[in-house]
Amino acid sequence: MPKPRVFVTRILLDKGMQMIREFCDAEFWQEDLPPSRETLLDRVQGKDGLLPLLTDIIDLEVMQAAGKNLKVISNHAVGYDNIDIAAATKLGIPVGNTPGILTDATADFTFCLLLNAARRITEADRYVRTGKWKTWSPALLLGADLSSATLGIIGFGRIGQAVSRRAEGFNLKIIFHDPNRNEPVPGLNASPVDLDTLLHQSDFISMHTPLTTQTHHMINAASFNKMKTTAILINTARGGVVDPAALYTALKDHRIQAAALDVTEPEPIPLDSPLLELDNLIICPHIASASNSTRARMSIMAAENLIAGLKGEKLPNCVNPEVYD
Ligand code: DGY
Repeated sequence: MPKPRVFVTRILLDKGMQMIREFCDAEFWQEDLPPSRETLLDRVQGKDGLLPLLTDIIDLEVMQAAGKNLKVISNHAVGYDNIDIAAATKLGIPVGNTPGILTDATADFTFCLLLNAARRITEADRYVRTGKWKTWSPALLLGADLSSATLGIIGFGRIGQAVSRRAEGFNLKIIFHDPNRNEPVPGLNASPVDLDTLLHQSDFISMHTPLTTQTHHMINAASFNKMKTTAILINTARGGVVDPAALYTALKDHRIQAAALDVTEPEPIPLDSPLLELDNLIICPHIASASNSTRARMSIMAAENLIAGLKGEKLPNCVNPEVYD
């Protein structure tokens, strides 16, 4: 029996790679940068399975280029806004993702960014390295307190709730907005509010909502106008949920105090983006889930979904289970 043919759009961490190699006739894209659109369309041809990263757009054209043997798409991410799920469902192709395992790493990183922006750590580090540190001074690099401040969490799924749990330890008051959840979550000290209330009341606002047509640019000029001038925005969700032009104006005009982003629109952020000129903005290259064990488990989980789909079994984590109806 020939092994199923798959295309994996990057080198993964070891264990996942090994599982895929054992079960499949696998082609791994070896470059550091993602395959170009043209290359992707070429390499997927005749494949039984695809394992893309969040950097690869998998739309109807790619699925059709793969051809009628395509049995599974296993995304190496919990988010799947890079995949046209409706098209996959129509073609009867199950799509896998990697939920749960990156919750803690992402919530930890959200707090890294929140504390960094509140206490201006990146700015302080720049201050030292550029020779500005001449003495201790009572008003040097003053920052925001967490204790008794209000944290507004937008999107109260797994990661939003994990952030909430951490926030209790810092004595933050926690409010959240989630269109799918109007009740408090048992065991969590967080109150549901409408979006406007959250924007008005929060000292820190943290984004944990998926990117969809409804959430695209949900934080825009009108939202910034509702925030406190001392507000700090954290985004570890998807860059597209915040309008970058509106963010630039809000930060430049000190309409809000600061922002810290792990994700941008587009990614990577172009080096000539005006956002990079701002001192009250921290930007990281989409690394919230980048801990050793999390990325190792992501590669295993993506491999498990891929292999299950190739065997004709239900994917352990499927985002379009209606394909099985
Ligand atoms: C995801 O999985 O969706 C994260 O953004 C990257 O790990």
